[in-house]
Amino acid sequence: MKSTFPLFPDSASALSGRVDALYAVWVLVSLFFTVLIFALIVFFMARYRRGHPEQVGGDERAGVWLEILWSAVPLAIMLFMFAWGARVYFQLYRPPADAVEYTAIGKQWMWKIQHPDGQREINALHVPVGQSIRVKLASEDVIHSFYIPAFRIKQDAVPGRYTSLWFKAEKPGTYHLFCAEYCGTEHSRMIGSVIVMEQRDYENWLAGGTPGKSMVASGADLFTSLACVTCHRAAPGVTQRGPKLEGVYGSQVKLADGRTVVADDNYVRESILNPTAKVVAGFDPVMPTFKGQVTEEQLTQLIAYVRSLGPTGSDAAGGTGGTAPAATANTSSAQMDANSPLNTPGATKGAAKPPRK
Ligand code: CUA
Repeated sequence: MKSTFPLFPDSASALSGRVDALYAVWVLVSLFFTVLIFALIVFFMARYRRGHPEQVGGDERAGVWLEILWSAVPLAIMLFMFAWGARVYFQLYRPPADAVEYTAIGKQWMWKIQHPDGQREINALHVPVGQSIRVKLASEDVIHSFYIPAFRIKQDAVPGRYTSLWFKAEKPGTYHLFCAEYCGTEHSRMIGSVIVMEQRDYENWLAGGTPGKSMVASGADLFTSLACVTCHRAAPGVTQRGPKLEGVYGSQVKLADGRTVVADDNYVRESILNPTAKVVAGFDPVMPTFKGQVTEEQLTQLIAYVRSLGPTGSDAAGGTGGTAPAATANTSSAQMDANSPLNTPGATKGAAKPPRK
């Protein structure tokens, strides 16, 4: 579709063209059948009208095959469109391995963005062109929805869990960022911009801002200041009150009740806010809740820190795949985590820069 068409948003991501193609074919198929059906109705009304009051219909057994035909053909078209739509859906919601993770937290009524190396912005997201970006979403209050029409992606930010979406912007420019879920009186003003920049401009922009600490470094600080370190760090001669966290992220964790869970974002989050929900085998449920003591932003930093403790590459991680099927979403985000700058062990002091092309 031409971006100059006034009612159609710009097409600016690697996948937006595929969404448009699917959409265009759907419109054409619908138009074709609408015209065909209405034309036939008019034609049949004229052709088979009752000529005089005594006239009755003839034997229409020949129509059986016609009926099978007009059922089978639409069925085939529907199945084809379903397969095509599913394919595009998977492409849209499975981040590639090299995606860099940003965080967006919805709050009445703004989007709070954090870059992997610490920059923060409100209602604006600066990204480099040509880089796959995964945005991890959380909400501090109600359901919001992160919507970038020019990239043809939308994902709810749900309180109490993580979701995510990804995109790869292909054209520098400024694009609309909307909240697409009614979230209160100022919902309509919960808008912002996605600013896609050339790689060099993006680096200049990063250098010009107040860098702050990387997600991992902030998480490491919290880990100390919240005293997590007293129970979760292995030290010789000390009784280990909580499991040590090195190598936990993305691994299979055995629980006290016999279940095994994958230590993904949502698991770590739950273990901080509701520690007794899933107690690790061999430990007592002694950890206090940190609900109310950590903000959504701090939670994402703590998780980034736990993730930085490894291991790299396992069959797990992710768990933030939004509406994508769990198995596939997990696989792809595990690969992503393996390559994520956040995952470099020891990258705790502002070392986590998005990979350069
Ligand atoms: Cu947030 Cu609508």
